[in-house]
Amino acid sequence: MKVEGVDYRSIWRDGDRVAIIDQTRLPYEFSTLRLSTVREAAHAITSMQVRGAPLIGATAAFGMALAMREDASDTALDNAVEMLAGTRPTAVNLRWALDRMSRRLQPVSATSRESAAWAEAESIAEEDVVINRAIGKHGLPLLREIARRKGGAVNVLTHCNAGWIATVDVGTALAPVYLAHDEGIDVHVWVDETRPRSQGLLTAWELGAHGVAHTLIADNAGGHLMQRDVVDLVIVGVDRVSAEGDVCNKIGTYLKALAAYDNGVPFYAAAPTPSIDFSIEDAFTEIPIEERDADELLFVQGTNSRDQLERVRIGAEDTQAANPAFDITPARLVTAIITERGVVTATREGLAAISAEKTR
Ligand code: MRU
Repeated sequence: MKVEGVDYRSIWRDGDRVAIIDQTRLPYEFSTLRLSTVREAAHAITSMQVRGAPLIGATAAFGMALAMREDASDTALDNAVEMLAGTRPTAVNLRWALDRMSRRLQPVSATSRESAAWAEAESIAEEDVVINRAIGKHGLPLLREIARRKGGAVNVLTHCNAGWIATVDVGTALAPVYLAHDEGIDVHVWVDETRPRSQGLLTAWELGAHGVAHTLIADNAGGHLMQRDVVDLVIVGVDRVSAEGDVCNKIGTYLKALAAYDNGVPFYAAAPTPSIDFSIEDAFTEIPIEERDADELLFVQGTNSRDQLERVRIGAEDTQAANPAFDITPARLVTAIITERGVVTATREGLAAISAEKTR
């Protein structure tokens, strides 16, 4: 996607290094970083310089290439997988990408491992873009149909950021929105702020850059807007989907699904197949929910009057805070799952139909 007229992806190879957009500085400042070591790649994931399930997976894959550049031995391979696997627990794309890199690299001799790792990481990144375009294509008719039926703007509500910067390019939940906008459908997005990390600010930033009409709202406003009948559908991304169709995504997604259900608003999850974890039967007990630092609630970041990035405390020194970063929306609240292989019901049967095609 374009940033000030220049085409960017959220991650790319730059010679012997890996380039990323530093998302901790968005939307205040657009800056890129170069990662030279596997340790730097791991830090980029833990610090959320990169974030969003598909991008976390791609960064781990490129991190393996950096690791193999440093040391291509069997021990280094195992250590790099272990280090990267420990960076964030919830998005299954991380594990998926590392398993795929391991399968590719283990049988290869140490002398060929670095080039094989770069090639596989670049394939993972390219495939992500293809997958997201297909999600957009499959989701677009849902918006078209609403536009045809009601006339006027199609109002989408989204939570967190599942746009192009959460993936390598294009996005998942926002892919149908971008396509609808590009074909001239009048589309407007209600953007949940998504406290405490405010990924909604990233969503607003990227929608604005593409010229898509949008309005930032407090996380608690969604239910009220649905009652007022100004939300036509909800589309969210996913960090992991269970074999039963339960959807794990950014904290607060569940509340949006409850409100959507109560108001008869369709609730869609956009899920690339690498985010579907067929090994998970019981999402509520088996998916690890990341607990992040309480300081994410007690401090906020923004620009001050001198245009400098500043972090300020908003909670009292002795305030206790808890920060679970993801929640699970039961399949019964999910109207359907938009995948690159089509729109399927959030059921074992629906997902089984696409799992049969899942080749990697
Ligand atoms: O903590 P984050 O910002 O990595 O969480 C991201 C989300 O929850 C996204 O909605 C999800 O990963 C889908 S991204 C296409």
